[in-house]
Amino acid sequence: MVETLTIQPAASLQGEVTVPGDKSISHRAVMFGAVAQGTTRVTGFLPGADCLSTIDCFRRMGVAIEREEETVVTIHGRGWNGLTEPDSFLDVGNSGTTIRLMLGILAGSPFYSAVIGDESIARRPMDRVVEPLRRMGAQIEGRKGGSFTPLGVRGGNLSSIEHVSRVASAQVKSCLLLAGLRADGITRIQEPYRSRDHTERMLPAFGIELQQSENEVSLSGDQQLSSPGEVRVPGDISSAAFLIAAALIVPNSHITIRNVGLNPTRTGILDSFREMGGAIEIVETGEWSGEAVGDITVTSSALKGVEVKGDRIPRLIDEIPILAVVATQANGRTVIRDAAELKVKETNRIAVTAQEMRRLGAVVEETADGLVIEGRTPLKGSHCNSHGDHRIGMATAIAGLIADGGVTVGRAGAIDISFPGFEHTLHRLTNG
Ligand code: S3P
Repeated sequence: MVETLTIQPAASLQGEVTVPGDKSISHRAVMFGAVAQGTTRVTGFLPGADCLSTIDCFRRMGVAIEREEETVVTIHGRGWNGLTEPDSFLDVGNSGTTIRLMLGILAGSPFYSAVIGDESIARRPMDRVVEPLRRMGAQIEGRKGGSFTPLGVRGGNLSSIEHVSRVASAQVKSCLLLAGLRADGITRIQEPYRSRDHTERMLPAFGIELQQSENEVSLSGDQQLSSPGEVRVPGDISSAAFLIAAALIVPNSHITIRNVGLNPTRTGILDSFREMGGAIEIVETGEWSGEAVGDITVTSSALKGVEVKGDRIPRLIDEIPILAVVATQANGRTVIRDAAELKVKETNRIAVTAQEMRRLGAVVEETADGLVIEGRTPLKGSHCNSHGDHRIGMATAIAGLIADGGVTVGRAGAIDISFPGFEHTLHRLTNG
């Protein structure tokens, strides 16, 4: 991960593009397909490094997974009892979703596994899933009492729990739902705000019954998954967000992004960009595997600062670095609060966003749970660094489209984690 990417100022962005498949949905399609009875064909799969880590881990547990094309994956499901003890480590690379959801599956699998990841994963808290999984009966050991990788898991019989999560986290919720499917009794999970609900939407397609209310989801154990045959993955709104941001801040732009997932638990960024004055048109075109899909058209806009907090935060948690870049071009102050979770993402995204944006001449203040950005500030060209974090890499690259002299992004290879083809897509738009 040493490549550098240079982005020069653009006169405008024009044209129509698509973005790679949704990362959250791609991970779930592979994992659910692996433990289901029957064969699942996934189209629109995200061929990014994180989702490839998920494929690799399940292959190591004996699941046959074929890739017909980059974005078409067939999983020969083995049922709950068909996974086998891996011969070597399960390496999740940089992927928090892989490790946390997979732990929910390993907890109920009667074998030993050793789970590792990269240096970013080693800093991310696992106690949020390890503690409730232990209460369900799983044996998990690891560094610092099991709070950090490497982790060793000996799965076995599980009992259900009622869990009140301190954080709104789809990874925690999905992990415990997967474990709960093999436990005896009813597993119930409550979260402070509703996090993304892709698991709740996809499990019923695999024949699972679950109950939901605003911030709570429950299911009874001893349920088998059976494949729906096909899962069609929409474009990732978190990737689209970088292009939307670019079109908003580069003058004379007008672009359309087709077939983007519009799940309401993910569209907070569209709400906040619109509150800032962004001209964004959304046309819902259908539903793919239980997820709303549509086209997003964006025109460059005069923007104003906004406040982003509370239940909006989980709906745009991954978009905060790019929201901060856009806020530098809005008149007035943008305040982001209630977002302390950003500190435990691929990097500490509060600190790293502030650090990289200051290099560009932005006026940014770090707070305990967010950022305060004063606009409008002209950005100046600079050398930035992704810090190995795909979304920081893309956020600084987009800043290059308006920064005097352009931006060079170090460790830009990280962008392939979620948006392979990012540079090519951006070039297509900047060349009309
Ligand atoms: C994800 C959930 C979010 C998000 C991550 C993907 C998922 O994390 O930041 O990129 O697929 O469940 P948390 O659930 O930990 O907030």
